[in-house]
Amino acid sequence: MKKLVKNNVYWVGKIDWELTEFHGSEYSINNGSSQNAYLIQEEKTVLIDTVWGPHKDEFVENLKNEIDLNEIDYIVINHGEPDHSGSLPALMKEIPNTPIYCSANAKKSLTGQYHHPEWNFNTVKTGDSLDIGNGKKLVFVEMKMLHWPDSMATYLTGDNILFSNDAFGQHYALNELFNDKADESILWEEAMKYYANILNPFSSFVTKKLEEIQNMNIQIDIIATSHGTIWRENSMQIVKKYAEWANEYKENQITIIYDSMWGATQKIAHKIAMDLRDLSPDTRVKVLNVADVDKNDIMTEVFKSKAIAVGSPTVGRTIITSVAGWLHFLEELKFKGKVAGVFGSYGWSGEGNKVLRKKLEGAGFKVIDAEIKAMWMPDREFLESTVDFSKALLNAAK
Ligand code: FEO
Repeated sequence: MKKLVKNNVYWVGKIDWELTEFHGSEYSINNGSSQNAYLIQEEKTVLIDTVWGPHKDEFVENLKNEIDLNEIDYIVINHGEPDHSGSLPALMKEIPNTPIYCSANAKKSLTGQYHHPEWNFNTVKTGDSLDIGNGKKLVFVEMKMLHWPDSMATYLTGDNILFSNDAFGQHYALNELFNDKADESILWEEAMKYYANILNPFSSFVTKKLEEIQNMNIQIDIIATSHGTIWRENSMQIVKKYAEWANEYKENQITIIYDSMWGATQKIAHKIAMDLRDLSPDTRVKVLNVADVDKNDIMTEVFKSKAIAVGSPTVGRTIITSVAGWLHFLEELKFKGKVAGVFGSYGWSGEGNKVLRKKLEGAGFKVIDAEIKAMWMPDREFLESTVDFSKALLNAAK
């Protein structure tokens, strides 16, 4: 069912209540999600994006209930990833000659995925526009690396709506669509999780793009994202937030991330938390077992942290697999301006800290020299010595 966004612009997407994971199992979904598509009905009728393939029949059926599909003059595909383009093949079966407007890279990704080079592609770049009648036009803005090379946004003049696709979105099934109707705590939690887990590696592109959009001097009244909310109340608040998040964001938080086999590494993790509480009562400290806590939630906590301490027992001359897998993900997210310390326990050879240090340096963290390395189960006397490590971590993160 279509839902009015403004004047002749309607939401025609899918609220995906049951979704539990995204990007395979790479991204956990805790509050549902949505794939937002939009219909503009001016002198020309334009569809902006589609929804994920599993919902294609429902999507096409719903569109048919609103309009004769042959009335669609143009389709704009802002991004080729399947959650937005997945219903395109089903739609194009119905209206095979309809022009598709997209970036040159999106033409590549759409052709690579759906194998229809005969589709009527019209590639556009930043500043290109499309007249849709009634004095309004669509202006295209390439959003390269936000978060794919093919990403693009589309600006509707007159109504001042920026269809931003993934940028500024969240995985949040917001039935009411608009940010002024959202549960604020979920909205911001999901917006930050989305940034930390998807956009953070591209922060330098975010900063440049925000400057570019600012220099375009366009009035943006509504930001119509492709996931979660449509920002209509104080829409620029999310843009300001992105500027902050893209600039080596950190709060006064230290997160301790570890896994343990027989409790020795866990004991150290807990002791570091106690040390930090005594040494710096204002610093928020969290302790997360990487084997039990959702990996994306841990990344959001890293995003908020000025420093992290990462611990693992030595297992077979290296680190435990749960920590190793998580560190691989950490490297992918390219955090900048953050400090790390390593700790662990061992019974025989004790290479764990060395491996942790190397992986954290590879992930872009400034790793402090101080470390904690306990042979067998740390006793009371050993645990007194962890204070020096905690002090060094705090000092390095100042
Ligand atoms: Fe929501 Fe990059 O797809």
